[in-house]
Amino acid sequence: MGTMTDSHTSTNTEEAPEQSMASRGESRSRRPDSDAFREFMGSGWGPRITKEVERCGAADYLPQRAAKAGEPFAGERLVIPAGTYKVRNNDCTYRFRAYSAFAHLSGLGGEREPDSVLVLEPKENGSHEAVLYFKPRTSRSAQEFYSDPQYGEFWVGARPSLEEVHQEMGLRCAHIDTLPDALAKDAGRVKLRIVRGVDASIEAMVNEIREQAGLPFGEEARSADEAFEERLSEIRLRKDAFELAELARAVEVTRAGFEDIVRVLPRAVGHRRGERVVEGAFGAVAREEGNGLGYDTIAASGNHANTLHWIDNDGPVNEGDLILVDAGVEVDSLYTADITRTLPVNGRFTEVQARVYQAVLDACEAALARANEPGTRFRDVHDAAMFVIATRLREWGLLPVSVEESLSPAGQQHRRWMPHGTSHHLGLDVHDCAQARREMYQDALLEPGMTFTIEPGLYFRADDEAIPAEYRGIGVRIEDDVVVNEDGSVTRISEDIPRTIDDVEAWIARAQGR
Ligand code: GLY
Ligand code: MN
Ligand code: MN
Repeated sequence: MGTMTDSHTSTNTEEAPEQSMASRGESRSRRPDSDAFREFMGSGWGPRITKEVERCGAADYLPQRAAKAGEPFAGERLVIPAGTYKVRNNDCTYRFRAYSAFAHLSGLGGEREPDSVLVLEPKENGSHEAVLYFKPRTSRSAQEFYSDPQYGEFWVGARPSLEEVHQEMGLRCAHIDTLPDALAKDAGRVKLRIVRGVDASIEAMVNEIREQAGLPFGEEARSADEAFEERLSEIRLRKDAFELAELARAVEVTRAGFEDIVRVLPRAVGHRRGERVVEGAFGAVAREEGNGLGYDTIAASGNHANTLHWIDNDGPVNEGDLILVDAGVEVDSLYTADITRTLPVNGRFTEVQARVYQAVLDACEAALARANEPGTRFRDVHDAAMFVIATRLREWGLLPVSVEESLSPAGQQHRRWMPHGTSHHLGLDVHDCAQARREMYQDALLEPGMTFTIEPGLYFRADDEAIPAEYRGIGVRIEDDVVVNEDGSVTRISEDIPRTIDDVEAWIARAQGR
């Protein structure tokens, strides 16, 4: 640490700095840039050691997805950016994770492909062809090879070629530098729509082209753009076979993560931040087996379970408490699971914990049974769970009004102890299809291919004076992921993760060798 009176510190605040602020990041190193160095760096490299390109399982589904996305917009050019890097601090960025609609239509997962753009190019017959614009690898004789920390092969590894991505995904591929001309071609006769809020530079490019072509742009184009965004959300409400397989895989890996959580519980008890031990155990599996977490893990022991989005996870895990863990692995294709289990830390539920837990489990079963009935709408699943929750609260003397009054729209007193919804669609986003219209979501009939959660809970906060002391500090949620089958029946794809009281106790005993 320097001192303020350091003899090198200039006191003249008027003096302009000789080195621009923008280049100060270069202060920490010196890169040679002689002609001799550049020539030497660009030569003498043998063939790259690359893997054989395999066709991706998603490739067969991409034409169908593009057709659905473009259907209402015949003759229009539709632009879906992947997004760009987000700064974490200084020159450190977060790992890249593509915008979900881009992942859906390009099939690309993992950390692919920052700054790329998928264009649904209109065809004469009213359909669209998906074209992927990205930055392919460059020659190692270019300076970028060793000098660009974001794209240089020496820094981030070899990027794919246009041909390789074409082989992998079946998409027509083009260099990102050709995007401006491709977007501007016939603009005016051809209208453009773009998904907003994903990549500001591509949005500016599209707006400039629209303005020059005399098309509505900026705010004038907002509703047209948003209609496209809505469409991209709604075509994901029913998953195709590839997506269902990926979701099943995400749940399977999440199951393995929960196995490790149960194994690590004794170590968590002995640690001052036991919740972090639990979070870490799950996170390791998520990175080893998948792309990572679908969302930040909630590891909430004791009263922390009553903070719905408890992600600090810096508390202890105490014997005799319940720990609520809400966690999901996002697999490499970017589909995620979303599972909650509430576990007795010492392996046995107390009588009152079991009472609360069983009520939540009964609500799960009622919701699942309703989902299995023909003619069920998405919102009915929540109503079925709430009937059980309100009934139990009334039986225990906690609900100050009748069950009927509480369930009426003007009442809802039971929601004091369960303020969140029971279900949401699940897929590339943990809260999937978020731009779908209400009539396509809450009010829609359940249909084959829909994948959603069932996750009732009861949260009795430690400072809740409206309830007897024995309930205070107990928080329970049980969350499963379900799929609607072709025949309309519903399968709980997380059924292998134990959840009845007996099964959970046996699971903990088994995992801990008791
Ligand atoms: N993990 C977020 C949720 O359950 O919706
Ligand atoms: Mn959920
Ligand atoms: Mn969850």
